[in-house]
Amino acid sequence: MSKKLIVAIDGPAGSGKSTTAKLLANKLKYLYLDTGAMYRAITFLAIKHKIVDNEQEIVELLKRTEIELTYTNGVSKVFADKVDLSEEIRSQEVNGKVSDVSKIKQVRQILVQKQKQIGGLGAIVMEGRDIGTVVFPQADVKFFLTATIDERTKRRTKEMKEKGKHVPEELVKENLLNRDKIDSTREESPLQKAKDAIAVDTSTLSIDEQVTFLYEEIKKVAERKGIVL
Ligand code: DC
Repeated sequence: MSKKLIVAIDGPAGSGKSTTAKLLANKLKYLYLDTGAMYRAITFLAIKHKIVDNEQEIVELLKRTEIELTYTNGVSKVFADKVDLSEEIRSQEVNGKVSDVSKIKQVRQILVQKQKQIGGLGAIVMEGRDIGTVVFPQADVKFFLTATIDERTKRRTKEMKEKGKHVPEELVKENLLNRDKIDSTREESPLQKAKDAIAVDTSTLSIDEQVTFLYEEIKKVAERKGIVL
């Protein structure tokens, strides 16, 4: 039996996944992996190389690119062939294309394989859309976070404003709804709650409340499995 846990956190954009997952990873002293950053990195590169509408070329590009994620002192970064793309992957342009790139079957296969390798040893909090269903169906604890579209829009708009990007709320909302639709209806590993995931509506919860709730659930599982957190 693994002595450390695999924690899977899935849900749509703006549901509070990243903030919660990072804080939980800090608290547990586990690795944190933002799988969305991987899909964003290949999307950014595809846009840059002007091949974003060519599935086969995107797959070839991904095959020859080394995508790495780091998480140090509370800051997560993504690198492609050692180049730091952490800022670039959050652009509106990437937001607009990332769901289409994430639909490509081979892109998913390559990235899921990588995520399995990274998380295989446990002691990890991994967030995404398909972690509890496809990447780690055997995860020790699974959460599915949701929040109302208005709350998610508010959070994303505020986040961007804090980074100096003033995007109108209507545009943010439109992008979120569009991504929700593509992410949830794609053929390959769509965004859906795993049957055994704990659903958490974060609309009215503070970050502290979210983290405490998830941590308590993780503690229960750890106790049941005889694992010391
Ligand atoms: O978590 P995020 O908003 O940064 O993710 C960006 C996009 O990446 C999301 O709209 C769909 C895709 N994604 C995915 O298909 N599977 C994952 N495990 C994570 C993200």
